[in-house]
Amino acid sequence: MGVRKAVLPVAGFGTRVLPATKSIPKELLPVVDRPVLQYVVEEALAAGIEHIVFVTGRNKGAIEDYFDRAFELETSLEAKGKDAILSELKQTGLPPGASSFIRQQGALGLGHAVLCAKDVIGDEPFAVLLPDVIIKSGRSCLAQMVDAFDQVGGNMIAVDPVPEARVSSYGVIAPKSRNGKLIEMDGMVEKPAVSEAPSNLAITGRYILQADIFPLLESQGAGAGGEIQLTDAMARLMQLQAFYAYEFDGRPYDCGSKLGYFEAVLAHALDHDEIGEDVAALLQNIA
Ligand code: G1P
Repeated sequence: MGVRKAVLPVAGFGTRVLPATKSIPKELLPVVDRPVLQYVVEEALAAGIEHIVFVTGRNKGAIEDYFDRAFELETSLEAKGKDAILSELKQTGLPPGASSFIRQQGALGLGHAVLCAKDVIGDEPFAVLLPDVIIKSGRSCLAQMVDAFDQVGGNMIAVDPVPEARVSSYGVIAPKSRNGKLIEMDGMVEKPAVSEAPSNLAITGRYILQADIFPLLESQGAGAGGEIQLTDAMARLMQLQAFYAYEFDGRPYDCGSKLGYFEAVLAHALDHDEIGEDVAALLQNIA
């Protein structure tokens, strides 16, 4: 069966960019003229995803509104003949019935957030996209993974090399053998100490998983940071089923951190049709 559904865990507090995220969900911080989350949803849709399951928490209501129609705003723009922005606005909505919102009642970890989507996913392979990470690429990163998944099946995670000093911020894989972009693994570990990391290939926040992950998440104890870690349950699933890492084409930006967010804004501003050239000139000026 193909990958039709995607889980987007959007319950996190955004502590690394406080106080900006005190009353705004971190997923709605703008990167130039659209929220971080929209880039991630577009990546999922470009991969053929038909239904998005948002796992939300308290104070995240603005996310639900963002993907709904904005009737008053649209009526007012229509009356003023602002057609260009109106059509752009309409593209941000998701089709009727194509999204679900589930509350995660406590910050118990990424593994727990994914488990909250169990009933909506049912018994089919599904994608997980972490909304902190925007991936700038020609072809959508998840679409690249779906192409590979359609060939080999099993389970798959996106990986990207990071500087060794930063491995302890990520899930890290132990590669065994490589066939093009596909890597077979011996294991994976969540946030290892630099001295204990099995490689510098970090898990980038894009996953395709079989529904068999759910019973493993149900029995998964707390791991790194005292949280129920998706990586720990995946390491167990890897003992039972085919599991690949996929080194994608593209550049990830971690918008959950101050520097990553700034880099994302800069990269997207420089590439923007309307302001790109001016931004490049501005940067030269400042430098
Ligand atoms: C999560 C995952 C980690 C992954 C990272 C990517 O960690 O647990 O395996 O490498 O996202 O951004 P977090 O950044 O939520 O602590």
